[in-house]
Amino acid sequence: MCHCHPPSERLTSTTAHQPTYSREGAERVMDAADGGVMKQYASDYERWLVTGACGQLGAHITSQLLQRSDHREVLGVGRRRCAGSHGDVSLVDLSDKSKVAQLLESYRPTHIVHLAGVSSPTIAEQNPQLAFRLNVSLTAQLARFSRETSAWLMFSSSDFVFRGDQASLRTEEDIPDGIGSYARTKVAGERVVRKVANGAVLRLSLMYGLPKCPRETTFTHLLAQLAADLPVRACFDEYRTPVHLSDAAAVCIAVGQARYGGMLHIAGRTLLTPLEMVTTYRDVVKGAGPIVPIPRASLSSVPRPRHSGLCAARLHSEFPDIHLRDFTYTSLKDEVGAAHASDPPRAIVGR
Ligand SMILES: NC(=O)c1ccc[n+]([C@@H]2O[C@H](COP(=O)([O-])OP(=O)(O)OC[C@H]3O[C@@H](n4cnc5c(N)ncnc54)[C@H](OP(=O)(O)O)[C@@H]3O)[C@@H](O)[C@H]2O)c1
Repeated sequence: MCHCHPPSERLTSTTAHQPTYSREGAERVMDAADGGVMKQYASDYERWLVTGACGQLGAHITSQLLQRSDHREVLGVGRRRCAGSHGDVSLVDLSDKSKVAQLLESYRPTHIVHLAGVSSPTIAEQNPQLAFRLNVSLTAQLARFSRETSAWLMFSSSDFVFRGDQASLRTEEDIPDGIGSYARTKVAGERVVRKVANGAVLRLSLMYGLPKCPRETTFTHLLAQLAADLPVRACFDEYRTPVHLSDAAAVCIAVGQARYGGMLHIAGRTLLTPLEMVTTYRDVVKGAGPIVPIPRASLSSVPRPRHSGLCAARLHSEFPDIHLRDFTYTSLKDEVGAAHASDPPRAIVGR
């Protein structure tokens, strides 16, 4: 179970008698192997704060961080309780500036992975004030903390910052020209981080893969529909460079460990339409229902780029050890098949 508690009632799995985000707790950690002796850790001891920890990417990042927890403490921040198993998560409404200030002051992170925000272009369009508050003002507050304390900050931006009228893959040098509230707030968040903070902007392509928190995502919804032989509509005239959630998480951690400063695109190598992706999903779950090709114009009235493929050459050159899997039938089959083996099929595809 994920430990989602309001800060006041939050307990941790390792030190149930005191919250781990006291400053003292971060600097002096009980080492059981040392017979309960308090160990002084060197100044390289890291305190990672992950906002949006129960979101699709956040749960992957916090789980991976927990698997390699040497010299590191991890605190996730979420908004509602979840049943995932990815470490300690405090429930904090990040739209409340004073609660954010309190959190930063008490935990004093050395690394902030900032993923929380309005991540849906449709919601950003319907509620531009909320999108501005979370994608820009909150980012600015974290950026100021980063500047004042030298904490490393990562801001999660998007392939949607480009208008998408050019077929070539976009690089970090290209000027973002996206339209709509989501693109505008992401670009403004990027600028704040690049101007004020000590850290990185990561522009993410469309992410796919099973979530770590049990929740319905577009991916699980599609798998469920396809497994039930129900018809699925998929767009044939939009182009993306999908990246697996677990690989994107590994990149965020590697970039944070290096305290990288600058802009990076995180994207797979293959340009695909949603129609091609969904067709592969159907093969994986051995569905027999129809896939209905639709034009992007029928999706929504919210502006969406037609070509949102990102070029990740800079990532591969700066981090040559990073490997991003290809979007293939085999890798998806392995992932979905392994999940089915450890859980009843409906529980996986029905999330
Ligand atoms: N998914 C993609 O394909 C994609 C592509 C490009 C860029 N991105 C960007 O990458 C980041 C992570 O994406 P994701 O797919 O992991 O997003 P996600 O699943 O929507 O996760 C965002 C998390 O932020 C939380 N949150 C929202 N408002 C909050 C608030 N006021 N206080 C505390 N928490 C709050 C949400 O909580 P609830 O669960 O309660 O809503 C959610 O868990 C986002 O910034 C997104 O814009 C995503």
